[in-house]
Amino acid sequence: MYYIGIDLGTSAIKLMLTDGTGRTIRTVSESYPISYPHPHWSEQSPEDWWTGVETGMARLLTGVDREQVGGVAVAGQMHGLVMLDENDRVLRPAILWNDTRTEAETRYLNEEIGRETLHGRTGNIAFAGFTAPKVLWVRRHEPEVFARCARICLPKDYINLKLTGVFATDVSDASGTLYFDVENRRWSPEMLALLGIDESMLPTVYESGEAIGRTTLFGLDAAVAAGAGDNAAAAVGTGTVTSGLCNVSLGTSGTVFLPTDGFVRTSNPALHSFCHANGHWHLMGCILTAASANKWLTEEILRADYGEWETAVRPENGVYFMPYLSGERCPHNDGDVRGAFLGLTHSTTRLDLAHAVMEGVSFAIRDCLSLCPEPVRTATVCGGGAKSRVWMRILADVLGVGLQVIETEGPALGAAALAAEAAGEPFTVTPTVRDTVAPDPARTAVYDRKYRKYQTLYPMLKAFYKEEHS
Ligand code: XUL
Repeated sequence: MYYIGIDLGTSAIKLMLTDGTGRTIRTVSESYPISYPHPHWSEQSPEDWWTGVETGMARLLTGVDREQVGGVAVAGQMHGLVMLDENDRVLRPAILWNDTRTEAETRYLNEEIGRETLHGRTGNIAFAGFTAPKVLWVRRHEPEVFARCARICLPKDYINLKLTGVFATDVSDASGTLYFDVENRRWSPEMLALLGIDESMLPTVYESGEAIGRTTLFGLDAAVAAGAGDNAAAAVGTGTVTSGLCNVSLGTSGTVFLPTDGFVRTSNPALHSFCHANGHWHLMGCILTAASANKWLTEEILRADYGEWETAVRPENGVYFMPYLSGERCPHNDGDVRGAFLGLTHSTTRLDLAHAVMEGVSFAIRDCLSLCPEPVRTATVCGGGAKSRVWMRILADVLGVGLQVIETEGPALGAAALAAEAAGEPFTVTPTVRDTVAPDPARTAVYDRKYRKYQTLYPMLKAFYKEEHS
């Protein structure tokens, strides 16, 4: 049998066809625009996502015996707010996970409703990118849209609705809304009342590998799984399914993902506590800019070739990059802060800048890792950033952690595994490990010193931007 795993990402949609041994047969990718209509805003058109599915499916399935496709599942960018009218027409562009327009609503939730109350009801506190503050923002700023809204869902749930006609979500993605009770794996009635949402506006909640229906589009007759948030799917695709393991993803965002056997009410709520796609739970730290910072510098600013950076680093060069191009989620929960280079001199080279970006993102990942309850010794790494050998060297040395670099697209492979589960068929997750990188103790000692300096920079930037916004 064949399975299709779809990764609904921020820069592109990737579709993967596998067989039941987890072998990738083909992958195709369709990109779409992202719009930043105002500072702090980040939006995409759900119709563009669907066009990506249609075009991608046609390419993916060329020459394939479609009767052999047993299941389809989608791994989606998390937290995005999709609003539909009573005929399931999209009411406004989706507000994405890295949109930080909701600082006021986030402050209201954390300070007036209270972090403890939120943490008690959902397992988490409010962050600007979560879905609940976006609902409050639309209610306040676009009341006419809110009044016409019949259904609210997450990005991948919109694709599942188009595929099956069934309005469904899964526990891992629902966890990122802040109106989901993560411990009990169900919507939180108190949060729905607070937001003015009736439960009938929300999709039915499933476990990630459960079948929600079938699709007969694209010449298929295949089971469709509820699917998962892209990080939980990436964890399935990289084998990060039992406690003690850790996956780092360097995509548009950067994440640190740790499975837990049971629900964990975190002592430091900067770390998210969400449902995993395998019936258990996980902890996660998320930074809003990771490989996207490297892409920005390489493609838009320096117009360079990525290969140019694949050479020895000089960590002692005194150049720092603060990767807050979209504000920051974990650990600072600060949508107003902005990115910065520091330590520039006449002798700073473009290579120094590029390596500073890789270091700065690695330091931000270390910020997340330092919140984890147990020390992490080894981790898998997936996502676009993992393609750079020099970045993997820097990351291993900055974190002092041994890395297994995964070549396979984590979220798409994880989604294919969920598709097989929904079809009731066996599936072996076999990610390809491209490289194993052990940290070098001497370089880790240098980076320890540089990280301590890096940690002094955020409070300065915070003060600077606080003044700017007051
Ligand atoms: C996770 C998060 C991002 C998106 C990226 O909390 O916001 O990793 O899921 O697609």
